[in-house]
Amino acid sequence: MLGTRASGAAGPRIFSGVQPTGHLTLGNYLGAMRRWAEVDQHRAEALFCVVDMHALTVEHDPARVRRLSRQAATLMLAMGLDPERCTVFVQSHVDEHARLSYLMECTAADGEMRRMIQYKEKAAAAALRGESVRVSLLTYPALMAADILAYGTQEVPVGADQAQHVELTRDLAERFNQRYGPTFVVPRATHPKVAARVMDLQEPTSKMGKSGQGRKTGVVYVLDEAEVVRKKVMRAVTDGGSDVAYEPDERPGVANLLNVLAACTGGDPEKLAGAYGSYGTLKKDAADAVVEVLRPVRERHAALAADPAYVDGVLRDGAERARGLARPRVDAAYRAVGLLA
Ligand code: AMP
Ligand code: TRP
Repeated sequence: MLGTRASGAAGPRIFSGVQPTGHLTLGNYLGAMRRWAEVDQHRAEALFCVVDMHALTVEHDPARVRRLSRQAATLMLAMGLDPERCTVFVQSHVDEHARLSYLMECTAADGEMRRMIQYKEKAAAAALRGESVRVSLLTYPALMAADILAYGTQEVPVGADQAQHVELTRDLAERFNQRYGPTFVVPRATHPKVAARVMDLQEPTSKMGKSGQGRKTGVVYVLDEAEVVRKKVMRAVTDGGSDVAYEPDERPGVANLLNVLAACTGGDPEKLAGAYGSYGTLKKDAADAVVEVLRPVRERHAALAADPAYVDGVLRDGAERARGLARPRVDAAYRAVGLLA
């Protein structure tokens, strides 16, 4: 039956997504995607989405977005998302996202959109590059709220940088329900215990991000070769002092390495700090740990990338299932606001 998960027990409804704006990073993996595969798909009715429409909110090359969308979907499967257990699909294949986004724009106030940190940062960066700021960059959280609310989502597993957007989604759901009657489930964000914000290895005060332009040495990409990963981690910026201590504010570089190592090995960053006498051995162990965590993903990705027809099939089935889940709720929202049935 459409609308139930492909197999197994019911649980909370889970939704999350990733934008095809660049190659996926260790931050994406540790902050969000690993949990989707290891935990979320097993305990819930879960949907995972390549949010390609979000990639159009900044200057983009159509061919690159197309390529990165397929790569992101392939990587989601390589990371262990099982289409028999969860729904994997592409946002633009399901019209309900755009339909509901419009109602969210009619629910949100422009001031609350302008307060979003991501908007302020990206708008400032566009201005620096001499580019104009697309209206869709401002209204981005309306589309993200639609992604989440269309499915009656209860939990949204994301990195810490998305907390503000999920908070706004909650506000919009509550406001809509209050104005037009109970329609949406009010969701909450969930974050990993460690590595909810992986920092750039060269600039440990900023997030490790899959920026639009060239590959950066402070960013580990999920598909980097083992030797490249090792080099990037070994060259990570550390801080003054020589003993290893977990002090995120004073020593962000070392804290980041401890977080990454802890996330990869299942340890605790503060306890790990005590086990190291020097930065060199910490870097070496962190490098080995990252290489080992990424190795199976890279291997499975190579196999899946050789079979694009399989990936396309998964996405087609996923979109159909997603549509079936979203349509009744979005239709109900359209009726609730006064649009004729
Ligand atoms: P994005 O790359 O912005 O589409 O993010 C996809 C998911 O990865 C979201 O849940 C983000 O919060 C998460 N994420 C992205 N970068 C990082 C990072 N450096 N550390 C932790 N989580 C991240
Ligand atoms: N804004 C998210 C990011 O930049 C991506 C995203 C879009 C998302 N829609 C979503 C994440 C819905 C979770 C749920 O990472």
